[in-house]
Amino acid sequence: MPGSFYITTPIFYVNDVPHIGHAYTEVAADVLARWHRQSGDDTWLLTGTDEHGQKIERTAAANGVTPKEWADRLVESAWKPVLETLDIANDDFIRTTDTRHESAVAKFLQQLYDEGHIYEGEYEGYYCVGCEEYKQLDDLDLPEEGEFAGQYVCKIHSRPVEILKEKNYFFRMSDFEQALLDLYESQPDFVQPDSVRNEIIQFVKQGLEDLSISRSSFDWGIKVPWDETHVVYVWFDALLNYITATGWGEDAENFRRRWPATHLVGKDIARFHAVIWPAMLMAAGLPVPKQVFGHGWLLVGGEKMSKSKLTGIAPAQITDVFGSDAFRYYFLSAITFGQDGSFSWEDLSARYTAELANGFGNLGSRVVAMIEKYRGGVVPTAERDAEIVELERAVTDAADAAIGKLAIHDALAEVAKLVDALNGYVTDQAPWVLAKDPAQAERLDQVLATLHHGVGTLAVLYSPVMPKATAKLWAALGESGDLADQRVNRAWDRPVGGTVSALEPLFPRIELAADEQAAPAS
Ligand code: ME8
Ligand code: MG
Repeated sequence: MPGSFYITTPIFYVNDVPHIGHAYTEVAADVLARWHRQSGDDTWLLTGTDEHGQKIERTAAANGVTPKEWADRLVESAWKPVLETLDIANDDFIRTTDTRHESAVAKFLQQLYDEGHIYEGEYEGYYCVGCEEYKQLDDLDLPEEGEFAGQYVCKIHSRPVEILKEKNYFFRMSDFEQALLDLYESQPDFVQPDSVRNEIIQFVKQGLEDLSISRSSFDWGIKVPWDETHVVYVWFDALLNYITATGWGEDAENFRRRWPATHLVGKDIARFHAVIWPAMLMAAGLPVPKQVFGHGWLLVGGEKMSKSKLTGIAPAQITDVFGSDAFRYYFLSAITFGQDGSFSWEDLSARYTAELANGFGNLGSRVVAMIEKYRGGVVPTAERDAEIVELERAVTDAADAAIGKLAIHDALAEVAKLVDALNGYVTDQAPWVLAKDPAQAERLDQVLATLHHGVGTLAVLYSPVMPKATAKLWAALGESGDLADQRVNRAWDRPVGGTVSALEPLFPRIELAADEQAAPAS
């Protein structure tokens, strides 16, 4: 049944350029959005950039420009272009420096202040600028050796924290402790996967403190409306993007149409989304998100890939060699969505060759070539073999159910069953043998019709993941209508027929250059 589907990525810090970790979240969100869009859901994909705070202010200063100049430069030269590189069909791109966002944040804050959810107080604690967060001792290491021996360092950024003491405004987050625990209990899907959910529940059960939501030691942020000597804490500002982008405070109708959202985030920031964010929404009397899904980390040499540790790989390093379709397919099929995964050039290259070039791509090419050769390009409208007809349907249903649970890797594993079955069917039926025997003409018609329809179903099922290759395949199969208009959740439900036309190899063979082979993630 068609419904409404609003999905978001985190808005990324513009202190640096994107690496494949950021690309991973973008690609996952885009595949889910495309799948829902092609299932008839009223779909909205939001992404964007997080531009305020001390981290950006310091980076800009180090580069001798204003924070806004720095953000503009990074957004135009890196963050928007990476969406092209990855073939992301986002519906909106929000920047926290957009006027629509800044004015709605001020309005939201004022409402919470007027209703007594905010008070003035003082705070002293360890602050990680990388995380833009006050840290508890549990979140810190105290190394005995190395560069930072004897200093508290952030477990995520491996850099020393700073001691900060400020007069701040505080959000009465502790008021929502029980309501949050009730939410996790009554809606087990609210935070997923279970590993992240358990961690969040443990964290909240230890007791919630109120949250410092303003800073007075620097200026790069949205001014607190009743006290302009303070700027809004960058996370309080950033989380609000999910509602300011869809019209909260401006366009009530659009807001109602979109909200609540499914938030895809890395597990590093699940706490902000599953604790602070729903508490903010509860305070404002707004519905909480539909779901917060904290996916795993891409690891390089066993550690979270990150720019601050100089392990970042730019997405274009991969797409320049393998293309955007293969990038999208690889990260979503090779890694269980929700768990960590290690990237290596060898693994990417091996899967590209086995699953895309030899598996799916070669199947498409062979089927088109056989219909050209044996039937002058015209697809026979014969009865199809029941076994494959049923498999098309079973695989479609299973893949759709997996997507509903955000198990993208499972959905792709289902579709791969159809690739393997069709490749096996070609071998078993040996159309080149049937073609030699005029008495088998009808049987050959059935085999070709079965293959043509099966490959068309693959084009539909893979289209949210590999939009470029599947569009080429769809055109070569001579299927009617636009691929983007096909219902992916009913991929099997199409008429038989068409006239095929030449198909270039969808996934050409690639020889890795020596320097790429020499740069595995180890
Ligand atoms: O945290 N593996 O922005 P950010 C997988 N501005 N995903 C990764 C990754 C890795 N190694 N590295 C980064 C912020 N990511 C805030 C968010 S939202 C209101 C504000 C992805 O630029 C993953 O989605 O540090 C992670 O959560 C996000 O990038 C962090 O991006
Ligand atoms: Mg980060």
